[in-house]
Amino acid sequence: IDVRRIRNFSIVAHVDHGKSTLADRLLEITGVIKPGAERAQVLDQLQVERERGITVKAVTASLNYTYNNETYLLNLIDTPGHVDFANEVVRSVTACQGVIMLVDANEGIQAQTVAVHNLAKRNNLVIIPTLNKVDLPRANPDKVKKQLKQVFNIDENSVLSISAKKGWGVPELLQSVIERIPPPAVESEGHFRAHIIDTWHDKYRGVLCLAYIHSGRVQVGQAVKWSSDSKVNTVRHLALLRPDEEAIEEAVAGQVVMVGCGPKGGGGVGEQLLSKELAESGAVTGMPPVKHMVYAGIFPADQSQHAMVSDAIRKLALNDSAVSVSPDSSPALGQGWRIGFLGLLHLEVFTQRLLQEHKAEAILTAPSVPYKVKIKGAKLLKQYRTDVILITNPLQLPDPNNIEEYYEPFVLGTIITPVEFIGAVTTLCIDRRGAPLPSSAVDDQMTMLQFVLPLAEVVVDFHDTLKSITSGFASFDYQDNGFHPSPLVRMDILLNGSLVDELSTIVHASRLEYNARRLTEKLKAMIPRQMVQVAIQAVVGGKVYARETIKAYRKDVTAKLYGGDVTRRKKLLKQQAEGKKKMRSVANIKIPRDTFIDVLKKQ
Ligand code: GTP
Repeated sequence: IDVRRIRNFSIVAHVDHGKSTLADRLLEITGVIKPGAERAQVLDQLQVERERGITVKAVTASLNYTYNNETYLLNLIDTPGHVDFANEVVRSVTACQGVIMLVDANEGIQAQTVAVHNLAKRNNLVIIPTLNKVDLPRANPDKVKKQLKQVFNIDENSVLSISAKKGWGVPELLQSVIERIPPPAVESEGHFRAHIIDTWHDKYRGVLCLAYIHSGRVQVGQAVKWSSDSKVNTVRHLALLRPDEEAIEEAVAGQVVMVGCGPKGGGGVGEQLLSKELAESGAVTGMPPVKHMVYAGIFPADQSQHAMVSDAIRKLALNDSAVSVSPDSSPALGQGWRIGFLGLLHLEVFTQRLLQEHKAEAILTAPSVPYKVKIKGAKLLKQYRTDVILITNPLQLPDPNNIEEYYEPFVLGTIITPVEFIGAVTTLCIDRRGAPLPSSAVDDQMTMLQFVLPLAEVVVDFHDTLKSITSGFASFDYQDNGFHPSPLVRMDILLNGSLVDELSTIVHASRLEYNARRLTEKLKAMIPRQMVQVAIQAVVGGKVYARETIKAYRKDVTAKLYGGDVTRRKKLLKQQAEGKKKMRSVANIKIPRDTFIDVLKKQ
């Protein structure tokens, strides 16, 4: 293969602007699938994707296309379309030289369009601006072209118009891919070096990877090494994905291919696969690891299912290398795992797959974000061997006396909204501790607002609230803005003076009283009345911020007695009071497990 006839590209778009439909159409035109084939959206493979209509996993397809009597190899690298999966998008674009940026000609520019445009620019990719759905009667290509000019300074003459559904303009689009996107700039000679864009697990062949080859060539049988590992592996499987596998013997720089090194072969996303010689020269450093934005606990619904859920999580994690898994345990919920996700949707998709594909019944705790703290004190510093530590679980927080500063993760949020909702959206963002950045017009009806927001305020229900206050017309996307210093405290819940581990949370000082009240009220409503009185307290470092009391049942032990025997009556009441005290002293409060599940579940 002549590298000059390779094109590597992605389709990027706001959710629902037609990426999967266009991908299907490209497969059709290049003869991979028959026109009108029943199998809806070939690239959307997972059941979750079909049901939710969103793309979760990036899938690739190598297509042959003849143009001006030359056959080109077009590698379409499919990217997931939701804010949560920005990370996967980033990984995919590193193998591309250009993108088709789809914009719905009816909806116009949305928040995610801005995000993917910026991403493409940052990576110096050629952007082919393309309006989709021009078959719709309400489509307004001229208006959207003006938006593209206004927001991105895109020349209106460079904008293509297509209908992915009807196939209009799609051959012209493929020709633009060949004409406008350069072939990969790679070293065909030299040592073999590839980076891994995606991995999945095959029952018989072990881990299979999607690799983009930066330099050299690779053959079946070649000795290779992972950048993270000193073991020598042998390439056993090499294939083009069309999107079904087509085995090949050799691949060259610029290509995107499937590689497998056998059942014990290993390999993970972000790693590099190197020729043995290059690996041993020590000249290659790794890629930055995936950043987890949201953590949640997962526990088997029933401890007898522990092994089964464990197995299911392990298999899913292999297929979804963006999650991190570590063991966790809770007195109320038993043995489980603490799992790091890219975002809330990622979390939902993961648990849905856990249920659907592995039939595992699991309980999910409320999501939380990771924090960082700067620690002091010789002992702690020695223990951690660093002065800033990452906290993914409130219980890991060191004693406040040993903490010099707290940091919480922030995001840069982009919101595109009709102008009439600017006030409401601004109020929402300020309420969520957001700091506004200058806004800019998209056109005379739409505005782009930007805020630096704490991630903790975004992960809960920001997206839903935004949609509801703008009647669904605003769109939202975010990108990482790093950790900022923040006045944080750990809030604990005491039941009759005893700490309930799994109810501890890290909160912003300004939110403390509100959260304290809300959580204690919620617990009061959920915990059934007991034989003893139950005091629910929200405390920070010994100071009580909210308190609720659940009154005890008053068992009328004297009911059977009639009239005057005062001594006996007093004696019985005394016994009862002592019984209560005894129970209280051991804090033997009977809380149904469901209460924990409900309190910890996302609201
Ligand atoms: P994600 O995978 O979630 O990012 O969505 P997507 O961008 O892949 O969108 P998808 O291809 O699933 O299309 C969304 C909806 O728009 C579907 O109902 C499509 O049938 C419809 N659609 C896509 N392209 C066209 C088009 O050219 N014309 C019309 N009328 N509808 C289209």
